Amino acid sequence: MSERRAVNLWSERATGYRESETHASGADLDLLVEWCDPSEGVKVLDVATGGGHVARRLRAEGCEVVTLDLAPGMQPDVVGQAEDLPFDDGSFDVVVSRIAPHHFADIRAAIAEMARVSESLVVIEDTLFSNERHEQAERLRDPSHVRSYTEDEWRAFLLEAGLEPELVEHLEKRHPLEEWLARTGCTGSDAERVKELLADRMTNDGSAWTDTKILLRARKSQR
Ligand SMILES: C[S@@+](CC[C@H](N)C(=O)[O-])C[C@H]1O[C@@H](n2cnc3c(N)ncnc32)[C@H](O)[C@@H]1O
Repeated sequence: MSERRAVNLWSERATGYRESETHASGADLDLLVEWCDPSEGVKVLDVATGGGHVARRLRAEGCEVVTLDLAPGMQPDVVGQAEDLPFDDGSFDVVVSRIAPHHFADIRAAIAEMARVSESLVVIEDTLFSNERHEQAERLRDPSHVRSYTEDEWRAFLLEAGLEPELVEHLEKRHPLEEWLARTGCTGSDAERVKELLADRMTNDGSAWTDTKILLRARKSQR
């Protein structure tokens, strides 16, 4: 997908992501916030902030948060690309990114940039790779989905960027199906095919499906 198309697409989706209950809350968000070691004056960069849910929670803990997103419609503090962060080396105590890296065109560049602008911690949550059928479903539901990664791939990305993984957790997350499809405008035969592809992760009544999130906390290696 072209950069311009992605910017427009995400700007159009802003209200849906701001109002999404699954993004605004959950055990995954609670744990991610805890792993940022939030306290008064801690400087945090929230990369691909979307509806701003991580930033809201961290600000409530006293952190000084800067939000970045490629889509102006998401109303971030800074419009920019994860792969080319407009900040000096070590500008933040913590750099966090939640449920977004599977959209990044160049995951290695993005992780390298997150490591560069962090003084200490990088904290990530994303959808864990499960199998190619689920990847197909994700791409059909949302053409901006690039790829989800396995835990081994995540560990390798972090290590390549000079980050030592110190905490890793997998959490199940439930998605009310119709809301999840509506958020990206997936309807008709595409929606039916997505349901078929996700059948093994669907509730018995077909009203929701569950994926697995991976959370990682990594620290800059001592050189
Ligand atoms: C699912 S939303 C993020 C959810 C949000 N972090 C949360 O916790 O609710 C994905 C976001 O990633 C942004 N995005 C996608 N690719 C990006 C990139 N390369 N650089 C910066 N932002 C990007 C989109 O504009 C969108 O706002």
